[in-house]
Amino acid sequence: MPVITNIEDLRVLAQERVPRMFYDYADSGSWTESTYRANETDFGRILLRQRVAVNMDNRTTRTRMVGEDVAMPVAIAPVGLLGMQHADGEILVARAAMKFGIPFTQSTMSICSIEDIAAATQAPFWFQLYWMRDRDFMDRLMDRAKAAGCSTLVLTLDLQVLGQRHKDLKNGMTAPPKPTLANIINLMMKPRWCLGMAGTRRHGFGNLIGHAKGVSDMSSLSAWTREQFDPQLDWNDVAWIRKRWGGRLILKGIQDVEDAQLATHSGAEAIIVSNHGGRQLDGAPSSISALPAIVDAVGHKIEVHMDGGIRSGQDVLKAVALGAKGTYIGRAMAYGLGAMGEEGVTKALEIIHKELDVTMAFCGRTDINTVDRGILLPGSY
Ligand code: GLV
Repeated sequence: MPVITNIEDLRVLAQERVPRMFYDYADSGSWTESTYRANETDFGRILLRQRVAVNMDNRTTRTRMVGEDVAMPVAIAPVGLLGMQHADGEILVARAAMKFGIPFTQSTMSICSIEDIAAATQAPFWFQLYWMRDRDFMDRLMDRAKAAGCSTLVLTLDLQVLGQRHKDLKNGMTAPPKPTLANIINLMMKPRWCLGMAGTRRHGFGNLIGHAKGVSDMSSLSAWTREQFDPQLDWNDVAWIRKRWGGRLILKGIQDVEDAQLATHSGAEAIIVSNHGGRQLDGAPSSISALPAIVDAVGHKIEVHMDGGIRSGQDVLKAVALGAKGTYIGRAMAYGLGAMGEEGVTKALEIIHKELDVTMAFCGRTDINTVDRGILLPGSY
């Protein structure tokens, strides 16, 4: 077993252990993947100021996201098909997140169902919803999330049409995988994954099958998206969701200052500056480069969060310095899950937390709530 010291180690191990189509699903962007890459590389341009001879004792990364106490300003991003990165993946991630004291957001496109997560965990989790044509189904999903005790709804605004991801098309991505020769050969090289899958009954989209009309054996994410995601979504629909849900609401997928301004009228508690991990509009700016202008425009009216490209605690600290009240990890968590199940997710969280804590100390701050642009080198952001 290799010694795991950073998120890249987890990525390498996940690539080894997860069948190619599911590893590729997580680790890819749309079209040329330029936005996907920029999400990560743009963090590297932002430089930190090291301070010395400052008392660095008694540090804390504890803060609040939409009023909830969090051990660090990091939540688990909603990621589809986690239960294909590892058997019962969503349950394992939810457990790791709750033990660590950060929010877990369950994707609509999960393998484990809302009820599975509720039965396997204690703390309330967050639920992510898409705006769909089947309003009854959407209604029922919200009721199910409520019944499961979900404290916050994360409404995705940027997936009404799907960005083309070459790898998914080439791999013929379905859950569970179709028994083609190429898949069988690939699966034979992933014995741990197969063993895990043999031990669970959760092999399809748990929130959809048996709940959405006409969906009994739905297997293709892109087919479902094409059929079900309603491209007519507008701000009136967001207002309807706000009213229908009645609880805390976070709007995910804002990239533009104008949209951020419109979002401040929606009644939502927070927005997530996000380009969907570079999986939607290729050629859009990285999330970290879009963040400062959005914070400047609306940060005094609504909580601003961000996701995209976070692979370290340094990245989290830079996002917080630029005004994000919270960040989300998707791939960094999925790599941990694929590599080592719940233990791998815990490892990813520990790695990020330690990097965040120590880097904050280097920058001369002891409390995450005091971190601001003053820790960044002017001109580098
Ligand atoms: C779904 O949200 C995806 O990005 O595949």
